[in-house]
Amino acid sequence: MPALAFSTTTYFLITITMVAVILVFLDYLRSRKPVKGIVDMETPLLPEPPGPKPWPILGSLHILGRYDVPYKAFADLARIYDSQIIKLRMGSVPCVVVNGLENIKEVLIAKGAQYDSRPNFARYHQLFCGDKENSLAFCDWSEVQKSRRETLRAHTFPRAFTAKYDQLNSIIGQEVECLVKYLNIESSRGSGAVAAKPLILHTCANIFTNYFCSKRFDLDHSEFRGMIENFDKVFYEVNQGYAADFMPFLMPLHQRNMARMANWSHKIRHFVESKVIEDRLESWTDFVPENDYVDCLVNHVRSFAEPKMSWDTALFALEDIVGGHSAVGNLLVKVLGYLVANPQVQLRAQAEIDAVAAVDGCQSVGLEHRGSMPYTESIVLEAIRLITSPIVPHVANQESSVAGYRVEKGSLIFLNNYDLNMSPELWSEPTEFKPERFVVSGRICKPEHFLPFGGGRRSCMGYKMVQYLSFSILATVLKNFTILPVAGELYKVPIGNLALPENSFSFRFQRR
Ligand code: HEM
Repeated sequence: MPALAFSTTTYFLITITMVAVILVFLDYLRSRKPVKGIVDMETPLLPEPPGPKPWPILGSLHILGRYDVPYKAFADLARIYDSQIIKLRMGSVPCVVVNGLENIKEVLIAKGAQYDSRPNFARYHQLFCGDKENSLAFCDWSEVQKSRRETLRAHTFPRAFTAKYDQLNSIIGQEVECLVKYLNIESSRGSGAVAAKPLILHTCANIFTNYFCSKRFDLDHSEFRGMIENFDKVFYEVNQGYAADFMPFLMPLHQRNMARMANWSHKIRHFVESKVIEDRLESWTDFVPENDYVDCLVNHVRSFAEPKMSWDTALFALEDIVGGHSAVGNLLVKVLGYLVANPQVQLRAQAEIDAVAAVDGCQSVGLEHRGSMPYTESIVLEAIRLITSPIVPHVANQESSVAGYRVEKGSLIFLNNYDLNMSPELWSEPTEFKPERFVVSGRICKPEHFLPFGGGRRSCMGYKMVQYLSFSILATVLKNFTILPVAGELYKVPIGNLALPENSFSFRFQRR
């Protein structure tokens, strides 16, 4: 009798089916168990938030799967269940959706210390060498994270008109000048169509490496270009949502992808160690003056300052921050995408920039001009609003509550900022690109419900960098060029996350 021989795929499918059967059974047992109330006598018994009955294994993943941007489901669920707070189960993960500004503020600010953890996705661990605590954005709260944030603050939030701010302004000016030069050269070639993303990413990357690490690299430095591409690929991947995050038994399906990401991260690490840090760790003998972020990290690690941090952890923090250039670069390419589709916005910004330049006599636009160019700055805010990149999910680190509903420990919290950005009750014509909504009496005015960078103890560490870089780069480009579409190219800006695919959008940069 011939032996039964199965292919690897068949074995895999059998395993998945068996796992699925076991999970359905466990699910059934769990659904029969009565939900425990809160036993702490000081806390009143709180009601569970309403929500759809989860399916076995999938939970409510199928509901979100019906929407192009999963966050669009949240406002619909709030309407269906007539509640701002919704309980979901995504795969095996208990989740709570929080709608409405006051409730979101309760989670981020009033009860920030109860909701300061991040999801425990296998993908996050794999991305950071087996331990998500290495990551600045995906780690749980700890003394190390508190200290990493405190050290970073002086660098990523330089106070206006201090030496650090002036240093950043001058680095931005130098790199933006190079960008204008490259755009001139590229525009004069062939059809004049320029792939903007590599040039903008190069500009942003040099601003970041020069400011945080005192290193910059020319456009023809192939290894630097490789590092930028690798950061961009990692950025794209971490911005995607995967069902396997909620159904870890699907992770084997992602192994090839995870291996590719590990390879990109490994190459980034090699470049950072060999070309950016060089011998700054080994040559350390005593405290060095802290001229950049690398100095701060080396001083901390080599002096065994509290809380102790390994050099590996410090390098992950450095890479997370240097990698912020991908966020700014991708955002700026999307901004250009909105501008070619809205030429009247471009004209209005150019009139504002020209008026200031006529008085000031300046050749390029610097941070000192921000106050007098509110419309130009508002273009970036409007793009950020429409893109509505989600707030990184939080996790309840203890039994808690929101809006009077019980939240069980370990629940993943989705904060619905999509609705805050797109609700017709909060914005007039919310789907239109109207930067002027952010300018009131000649000044930038952000409504309280505009929370693109989150808030509280886990708020974005890079929002000032976003504001400063995007303003200066955009204003200088518009001062020098009119951005025109390339025939046949579609400029539909993807929303729901910041990342753009590797080869996105070409433009014509017409010299003014
Ligand atoms: C348009 C660009 C960006 C947007 C929309 C954005 C948005 C966000 C949001 C919503 C969060 C989560 C906040 C929360 O949980 O309350 C976050 C976290 C974070 N962002 Fe950004 N960000 C951007 C660019 C940057 C840049 C350029 C950097 C680095 C320089 C950066 C560094 C971080 C870090 C380190 C965290 C994690 C903080 C923590 O968990 O303690 N971001 N960002």
